[in-house]
Amino acid sequence: MDGRLDSAVGDPAAADIAAFLREQEHKSLLRFLTCGSVDDGKSTLIGRLLYDTKLIFEDQLSALANDSRKHGTTGDDIDFALLVDGLEAEREQGITIDVAYRFFATKRRKFIVADTPGHEQYTRNMATGASTADLAVVLVDARQGMLPQTRRHSFIASLLGIRRIVLAVNKIDLVGFDRAVFDRIETEYRSFAEALGFAGITAIPISARYGDNVTARSDSMPWYQGPSLLEHLETVPVEDFAADQPFRFPVQYVNRPNLDFRGFCGTIAGGRIAVGDPVVVAKSGRASTVKRIVVQDGLRTSAREGEAVTIVLDDETELSRGNMLVAPDARPEVADQFAAHIVWFDDHAMIPGRSYLLRTETDQTTATVTELKYRIDVNHHGHEAAKSLEMNEIGVCNIYTQEPIAFDAYKANRATGGFVLIDRVSNRTVGAGMIDFALRRASNVHWQAIEISRRERAEQKQQRPAVLWFTGLSGSGKSTIANLLDKKLFAAGKHTYIIDGDNVRHGLNKDLGFTEEDRVENVRRVAEVARLMADAGLVVLVCLISPFRTDRRMARDLMGDGEFIEVFVDTPFEECARRDPKGLYAKALSGQIRNFTGVDSPYEAPEAPEIKLSTTGQRPEDLAEAIETELRWRGVI
Ligand code: ADX
Repeated sequence: MDGRLDSAVGDPAAADIAAFLREQEHKSLLRFLTCGSVDDGKSTLIGRLLYDTKLIFEDQLSALANDSRKHGTTGDDIDFALLVDGLEAEREQGITIDVAYRFFATKRRKFIVADTPGHEQYTRNMATGASTADLAVVLVDARQGMLPQTRRHSFIASLLGIRRIVLAVNKIDLVGFDRAVFDRIETEYRSFAEALGFAGITAIPISARYGDNVTARSDSMPWYQGPSLLEHLETVPVEDFAADQPFRFPVQYVNRPNLDFRGFCGTIAGGRIAVGDPVVVAKSGRASTVKRIVVQDGLRTSAREGEAVTIVLDDETELSRGNMLVAPDARPEVADQFAAHIVWFDDHAMIPGRSYLLRTETDQTTATVTELKYRIDVNHHGHEAAKSLEMNEIGVCNIYTQEPIAFDAYKANRATGGFVLIDRVSNRTVGAGMIDFALRRASNVHWQAIEISRRERAEQKQQRPAVLWFTGLSGSGKSTIANLLDKKLFAAGKHTYIIDGDNVRHGLNKDLGFTEEDRVENVRRVAEVARLMADAGLVVLVCLISPFRTDRRMARDLMGDGEFIEVFVDTPFEECARRDPKGLYAKALSGQIRNFTGVDSPYEAPEAPEIKLSTTGQRPEDLAEAIETELRWRGVI
């Protein structure tokens, strides 16, 4: 950095800046976040810290004073919660990030506080945005004491590898600065947190609103002899493990402006690197040596964890995005099965068997939770049997990824051991995971080569394999239409087979009911069987309500290009209930059958099916013929 700044020394203002930056550079950095229940005063506290360290701009401040008088809950005093919430609203204009990092500094230290907005979605923001934090300030309302959220957030903090906790007992003014209240909360918290293995817990009684013990010690609590919150944040030790870890460099992109230069860009996620050091590519194991390390303002001989660099190797080693350069003598795991802790934060539960997108620092692949081993009771740390994970729940799972990924255990490296799960249809981030260890169970099972190809099998039958996936409400006409089509194809000498939901539930799937978990598994098994049949060269007709988009997407992705043909049998609920061929609607509507699709279990209509049949007023024969025409047009038959 010096080259750039020194050239500006002639200008006194620039010299000031240079001096200021140099001074900042030598200060240590503490990353922290605040958590607690709704109304525990998180926003007020951050506002107060920023205000007292003079980081609020004057114009924002006068606007705030006006706003407080208009909307605030604090009379003529400034309402600090409004400040942070106001910035939040601003940010919501372009909702691209979940977490805003606020930077401030005192004479002794620099701080980055992860400001995680929103109360409902708090676990989500905490789990996705705060995995770099050194410390968590857990806020408790002195009047309320510990709440379930206090325990949950503390548990997640420990899971995320946060080592230190400040228990900020807030609103102490509202309990008359009573020492007994503070002591009781502190004792209760310490006994709860003992099992979480934090390196340090410091309890501080504060009033975020009036500033007691926030940046300066309060006169109202002579019984409290400890530091103010800011003093503590300025002096608490920050462990610096990351630079002592084995070298990890996830490649974010490959910079190749011309044929003579190829650099791998990214942020060092662990350890150090120097020119001349040997490295290997995590997935291929290919060895190379670091030739150059380029940073924004020039070349470097070495770099360390946290720095954004471009690495040039001394040969033509292939390395694409999604791979990692690592230390040869301490390599990460490369596996497609592993055990992990998962924090779930979507209102749609996590269900084993369903497929999600899994994203790590470098990789993105589809993944399935093969087994939910247990859910964790965050109050007593017990293990509970569970079939799914609801919003804000934490569980331990086995996960299977479609492609092998390179990773470390989260305990060893928070950057290369973490991942998020993304819903494949809505693209929402629905869970965050911390990898515990690789599973080797299936690594001895290989693909057995079969010499007759699927193409040859289909050619022998003079057709192309296809999976016609009929989806729609019960009684919509799926089986009727599929049967008619099947007869036509059979008569034309085609090789077909029908997999009907009702029928497989008498054999292959007789252990499954109609909960969401069971339907996911029902669809998964049928899709796998349909794939085998398509491999055998058949035209497969699947009749399954398959009410969830994401599961139909999973089925689609199992098949070859153009092989999956989604047929939406679109019959309105009222019409299905009127037809009621099996008398099930009458029972469901009178409460005798639970989880009935369209009644008390949802049906998600396809957004872009290959074929959509509106059945009302149509003859099934005509609809079957329409599909046959479509299959000819698509070259299936
Ligand atoms: S799916 O949702 O898992 O795809 P599937 O197509 O296998 O359902 O089975 C649906 C058939 O099971 C319906 O046609 C109906 O005959 C019967 N059935 C019994 N109970 C239910 C229920 N609760 N919801 C839907 N269908 C049910």
